[in-house]
Amino acid sequence: MSNLDLSVSSFLEDGFNLKNHLIKFLHINNEQLDQRLIKGVDDLAALHPGAFNKHDAEDFYEEKVGDAHLIDLASWHLNSSSYIADTLRLQQKFAFGKVLDFGGGIGTHALAASFLSDVEHVWFVDLNPQNRSFVEQRAKQLCIEDKISIHRDLESISDVMFDSIICLDVLEHLPDPSRQLHIFMEKLSPEGVALMNWYFYKGKNEEYPFHFDDPDMIRKFFVTLQLNFIEVFHPFLITTRAYKLLRK
Ligand SMILES: C[S@@+](CC[C@H](N)C(=O)[O-])C[C@H]1O[C@@H](n2cnc3c(N)ncnc32)[C@H](O)[C@@H]1O
Repeated sequence: MSNLDLSVSSFLEDGFNLKNHLIKFLHINNEQLDQRLIKGVDDLAALHPGAFNKHDAEDFYEEKVGDAHLIDLASWHLNSSSYIADTLRLQQKFAFGKVLDFGGGIGTHALAASFLSDVEHVWFVDLNPQNRSFVEQRAKQLCIEDKISIHRDLESISDVMFDSIICLDVLEHLPDPSRQLHIFMEKLSPEGVALMNWYFYKGKNEEYPFHFDDPDMIRKFFVTLQLNFIEVFHPFLITTRAYKLLRK
């Protein structure tokens, strides 16, 4: 425990021991993992059943994706580690108290948040049961399971007001991201901070077929955002923005 290091530099070294954690969780060897990591994004896109409607989206993440999203996200975090590192630096600058990592994926941000001295506890929420088991296993391996609670949804976390909400690369996966902002408004403490980004785009070559991109939905999202949140400047050159609640 005393040697535990979940700092940004430790993430840059090995993604918090990510490959070893995957090998153990997936019961595969190093070579098999490397093969899967090369094809991560393509494998996830290939699972996609065609255009989503509102009801398909939850099923897709909860039942169809399986461990494909673990591989896709691992490949991204390892290959774009300097970008992810900046999101961790941003989290380090702002996160405090009770932290929610909504749609937390492979747990990079939740694990790193639990290591910050200003953070009291982290709630990791993800629809995908494989992601939840993986992050639970990682937290145990890193001996920080007491600092992280793992949940399928926000409904199963009663009465917690969060001081920090982290929601990275998730809003474009939701059929109604404006509604999600309203939920965040209710769950964020008055002095709390929300770190969010979004990518409402299916990609130049449809490489992200599971992203929602309806123009009316996007407009509604920005109206809700701009009427209820005020941006806080930060110096990192990344898409993620920091917000406080705009009290009228
Ligand atoms: C692109 S990943 C982002 C993961 C992580 N935030 C990151 O930055 O690496 C999107 C995640 O959102 C999760 N997700 C999608 N819809 C969700 C929902 N309605 N509630 C909770 N999690 C959801 C997926 O299972 C997936 O892990």
